[in-house]
Amino acid sequence: MKTIVGLSGSLRRGSLNSALLRAAAELAPDGARVEIGDISGIPLYNGDVEAESGLPEAVTRLKDELAAAAGILIATPEYNQSIPGVLKNALDWLSRPGSDIPQVFGDKPVALMGATPGRLGTVSAQRTWLPVLRALRTRPWFGPPMLVSRADTLFDADGRLTDDVTRQRLAAYMREFVAFVARASEIPA
Ligand code: FNR
Repeated sequence: MKTIVGLSGSLRRGSLNSALLRAAAELAPDGARVEIGDISGIPLYNGDVEAESGLPEAVTRLKDELAAAAGILIATPEYNQSIPGVLKNALDWLSRPGSDIPQVFGDKPVALMGATPGRLGTVSAQRTWLPVLRALRTRPWFGPPMLVSRADTLFDADGRLTDDVTRQRLAAYMREFVAFVARASEIPA
């Protein structure tokens, strides 16, 4: 069983990206499980806090989950044509100390997807994540992009993905990403 940690870049209760991540977990193929990681308890990064008290517990817990995972699936909102600060902040904490990056992120397959009520499907945010994924020495997956536009029309009031075409696209995306994760685990780091 391949465990993939899912991270949503939104803290909003009604988040479209968190709903997309839950749908991805539901549609993951046999042999893979998506466990949704929690960034809500991670404070703003402060080097003084790190120097004086080390990493907050919410960070060490998620670091351990990521280190044990076979892959990472990011559902990103797009803010001002870029990435959401809350998730960048979480990844900054998760990259500390830098000597742990190889163990937590190194050579780890990462897939990006994103949902927006707008028309461009978070394409700018997804592109903007790439230098971060490079800095963390991950293995980004460049499969068919999962850009979910007009997302406010695709989920019901409970946040369930109800649009059939998007469900089929997401199921195919998850099949291909999980196949990439399986191949990556056979390639030595
Ligand atoms: C947005 N939104 C947005 N959408 C987009 O497609 N491109 C953009 O550049 C922006 N910019 C932006 C800036 C700020 C500050 C906010 C709050 C919002 C809209 C955004 O896609 C929408 O709020 C989503 O619903 C956010 O994702 P969640 O919270 O639903 O997951």
